[in-house]
Amino acid sequence: MITAVKGTRDILPGEVEQWQLVEETARALCDRYGYLEVRTPVIEREELFAKGTGETTDIVQKEMYAFTDKGGERVTLRPEATPSMVRAYVEHNLEQALPFAKLYSMGPMFRYERPQKGRYRQFHQLDVEVFGLDDPAVDAEVIDLAWALVAALGIPEAELVLNSVGCAKCRPRFQTALLAALGEDVAKLCADCQRRATTNPLRLYDCKVPADQPIIDALPHAVDYLCDDCRAHFDGVRSHLDRWGVPWRISHRLVRGLDYYTRTTFEVLGQTLGAQNALLGGGRYDGLVRALGGPDRTGIGFAAGLERLVLALPDERRAVRPPRAFVVAMGDEARDDGLALLRALRAAGLAAEMELQARGLKAQMKRADRVDARATLIIGSDELARGEVTLRDMRSGEQRAVPRAEAIAEARVLLQPSETE
Ligand code: HAM
Repeated sequence: MITAVKGTRDILPGEVEQWQLVEETARALCDRYGYLEVRTPVIEREELFAKGTGETTDIVQKEMYAFTDKGGERVTLRPEATPSMVRAYVEHNLEQALPFAKLYSMGPMFRYERPQKGRYRQFHQLDVEVFGLDDPAVDAEVIDLAWALVAALGIPEAELVLNSVGCAKCRPRFQTALLAALGEDVAKLCADCQRRATTNPLRLYDCKVPADQPIIDALPHAVDYLCDDCRAHFDGVRSHLDRWGVPWRISHRLVRGLDYYTRTTFEVLGQTLGAQNALLGGGRYDGLVRALGGPDRTGIGFAAGLERLVLALPDERRAVRPPRAFVVAMGDEARDDGLALLRALRAAGLAAEMELQARGLKAQMKRADRVDARATLIIGSDELARGEVTLRDMRSGEQRAVPRAEAIAEARVLLQPSETE
């Protein structure tokens, strides 16, 4: 047997309904907030992420599915959507083409990581991006959308964490303070941190090695080194969230693992996910559009891991299939009539099924139970002779004869969702 590649998974019936619920909820919310869908390719030029995600990130250094294609070009399966969205925005001049460059996308991403619960090598993101708008109200709107998604899915005990990592003007001051505070202690940190201290000191905050934590906890905080503009921006974001009743707390360690962030960073953490507790994460990236060859436009967005949203769904939000009808036919002649009725039910817009390998009545009724049919339409030789169908309400067990011509309308009544659905 050939099995699926490590870190990838099949999403089967029983689980796929949860995915549909998450995807439909996300789409409806994005539409409500004025975001338009964009679909970009799964494969991109490798340099897009080297430049976009950043040369010093774990993603680019260790996790990309990059290869040389048959034409000799270096390409990669995308590890995240943001650089692709920026590329599409620049390449198609979307700033001119669309009323607002408020975009979203959904699809698979690929990172060669060590798989564990909530972390896979192929995973899926809802990605939301806004270009060219830099008012704090835009940051707050993006965060509000992220929060509304988690709320609409009924995910309990989620927590919104915020930080500001400053801009090109104030970040160097913070990095200098960070390294000064670290001083000789740098030699006591893990090998990764020693590398981080020289390549990207902010990333020290990503360290998970227990022995390093007391040293890292004592380091200065980015929010204390913001320039006046960044401070005013961050205050603006927080006061909008406060006015809207979106609860947040500051996390000084929220520097995020990608190179492009400026100013606001945020994550929503779930409580039921174990180590991989970030349901979604994002932030502002004001230099990225220009770095990728576009005009000098700001950007902000987030991506939510769909696997993690599905894992965090509460039981009562588990989606149910729409009610369906089942056609049961006894004998060859009735079977042909049953097949015609099956097609007519479907053509009338109803979900309908039938046992297509002719079997006895009992086996067919059992199958109707297994598909959780709400109405069964039974045709035997008697029904055929009288031009009728026996309609069985599968919830009450009641059954009665209805004229064949009215069978579809009568079935439709039984398939109406009840008050509690
Ligand atoms: P990220 O934090 O790398 O950010 O990923 C965002 C979310 O994707 C995570 O919070 C998590 O839910 C999910 N995720 C990431 N890696 C995996 C994995 N291996 N398995 C399962 N889920 C995963 C970004 O990707 C940025 N592009 C977000 C962004 C958009 N920033 C601005 N705009």
